[in-house]
Amino acid sequence: LEVRYNRDSLLNGARKLFSSSKSFSNTNNGVWKYFDLLPIERRESIVSLGEEGNTPLVKLNSFDDNLNLYVKDETRNPTGSFKDRPNTVGISKAIELGAKKVAIASTGNASGSLAAYAAKAKIECIVAVPEDTTMSKLIQVIVFGAKLVKVRGTYSDAFNLIKESCKKFEWHNLTSVSSANPYQIEGNKTIAYELYEQLGRHAVPDWVVIPLGAGPLLVGIWKGFQELFDFSLIDKLPKLIGVQASGCCPIVRAFKNDETEVSPWEKPPQTIAQSIADPLTGYSQDGTMTLSKLRESKGIAESIDDSEMIQSVEMLARNEGIFTEPAGASSLAVVRKLKRHGIVQRDDLVVSIVTGTGLKSSETFERMIHDVPVIDPDPDSLFGGISMTS
Ligand SMILES: Cc1ncc(COP(=O)(O)O)c(C=O)c1O
Repeated sequence: LEVRYNRDSLLNGARKLFSSSKSFSNTNNGVWKYFDLLPIERRESIVSLGEEGNTPLVKLNSFDDNLNLYVKDETRNPTGSFKDRPNTVGISKAIELGAKKVAIASTGNASGSLAAYAAKAKIECIVAVPEDTTMSKLIQVIVFGAKLVKVRGTYSDAFNLIKESCKKFEWHNLTSVSSANPYQIEGNKTIAYELYEQLGRHAVPDWVVIPLGAGPLLVGIWKGFQELFDFSLIDKLPKLIGVQASGCCPIVRAFKNDETEVSPWEKPPQTIAQSIADPLTGYSQDGTMTLSKLRESKGIAESIDDSEMIQSVEMLARNEGIFTEPAGASSLAVVRKLKRHGIVQRDDLVVSIVTGTGLKSSETFERMIHDVPVIDPDPDSLFGGISMTS
């Protein structure tokens, strides 16, 4: 499913928005600044936590001297991931359509986000996540007051459960892939608009690098850039790089095998990057849609190992003060790999989307606290007095 607009009204909206001389940094109004380009009819329908979007674009000088590399820091959204963009749009549309209850299947970030928006909208929210979802992601859902179940199996089992239950009980499905809810994609589009503004309304990245589950984030970002191109605001399109974990990468596998359709991942997912571990069982058409957009952009799909993601988490934290989860760092880790392979080249303008905070995946880094010294409250026992461990 895809949201289509009346082209003239979209074009008028874009002209109004992007001809204004107000620079991006002068506004703290994120996603809803683009109201005229989003599928909500009445402003009264908007459910907002006030700060979604408008995230920093940070130049990384410490990563690779020969690259013009930026990260779009989506950890700064109100619930800690980019999922606040699709959810603010998705729930606002649900309210506009008269939904009484919303439901979502999620690997954790989308549900924590939806639970917050549902609380704000005072609407009941039902959440299904895979059994191995991290504790902080579960807690976020519960504290925001949603009804939560852990489903035995993978994310796909949770997905199919919510799909069937929404049909059966007439709940409004806010699972973020386009076959379940096309409005969610529209929120993701706003990342492309923000990049256009943050790069001074002229530079277009050579590459935009995006972690993929089923890939609605990639589909949305591509749609945003296509609109800007269609309205002659930019004169070229970026190539997209989709990244998955090697322990669960159905879209990458289809890309590398030159297939036109994505088939589900048969084995149990094996990766610490739970947020992007999506076997696509029962809705592989969403993966096929992502693959077709990726190819349309003349981009590529690549997989990455857990150890490479962890290295990039640490690099980003220790050099830039940004703490992301392994899935969020996959978009950075892969740049290194593609540079080695000669695909990403010297001086290319690259934007990696860092999709979610590390605070909700702290279990991955638990080993780091085992070496923390326990001391008496005596200055001589403090780091001046003992040898410091790195
Ligand atoms: C941190 C993070 N990165 C990337 C993704 C993948 O996004 P998509 O749903 O667009 O496949 C998710 C999905 O939940 C996520 O939580």
